[in-house]
Amino acid sequence: MIRICPSILNANFDDLPNEILRVAKSADLIHLDVMDNIFVPNFTFDFDRANEIIESSALPIDVHLMVEKADLAGPKYAASAAVSVTIHFEATENVAKTLAAIRENGTRAGLAIKPNTSIEVVKPFLHLIDILLVMTVEPGFGGQSFMKEMMPKVATARSWLRSNGFSDTWLQVDGGVSEDTIAIASEAGADTFVAGSAVYKAPNPADMVLKLRNLAKDAHPS
Ligand code: DX5
Ligand code: ZN
Repeated sequence: MIRICPSILNANFDDLPNEILRVAKSADLIHLDVMDNIFVPNFTFDFDRANEIIESSALPIDVHLMVEKADLAGPKYAASAAVSVTIHFEATENVAKTLAAIRENGTRAGLAIKPNTSIEVVKPFLHLIDILLVMTVEPGFGGQSFMKEMMPKVATARSWLRSNGFSDTWLQVDGGVSEDTIAIASEAGADTFVAGSAVYKAPNPADMVLKLRNLAKDAHPS
């Protein structure tokens, strides 16, 4: 099962309901990047604004929290109507407790790692997560180049998920995913793909989502 999640980071922030409608036919989820200008050098939304976007969206929302003190923010966002909330390992003091608190709301709990963080750190939490996000750029901005050197982490994660029977856990990549790179990530074992500029800079965003999905399907090992 392949999931394509357009990121609205570089869409028109003044008209997000319509920007979301442009991909509603073909996308699975909308990826919402929440940045606090502390954990990353960029700011997007506070909780109230994020909540408005979540409430008005035609598609389910996948929240990616790039904020400090995720122990507090994670459960707060989980109480919204988002279908998933992903916290960063690097921004969380008590990872197990925070993931459990997110799940308690019936929300999918995600754990993300930045490019310089080893995949080994997620191993103790595999049974507590519904999404494992391997960042393929340094978080903070859209439009950066895909870091192919993250693929060994994706492949390792895929083999752990497979050998432990976690077949419902999504393996997500985020950053620089495009027509040129999605097959590389899919081949390594990713099944859930965030794509910002590739989708919203395309003349027809909905068609681009279909194209990305087909490329990912063709390259997926299963
Ligand atoms: C980066 C964000 C990404 C971003 C991806 O920190 O987490 O979700 O929107 O944008 P592209 O696809 O343009 O790299
Ligand atoms: Zn993101």
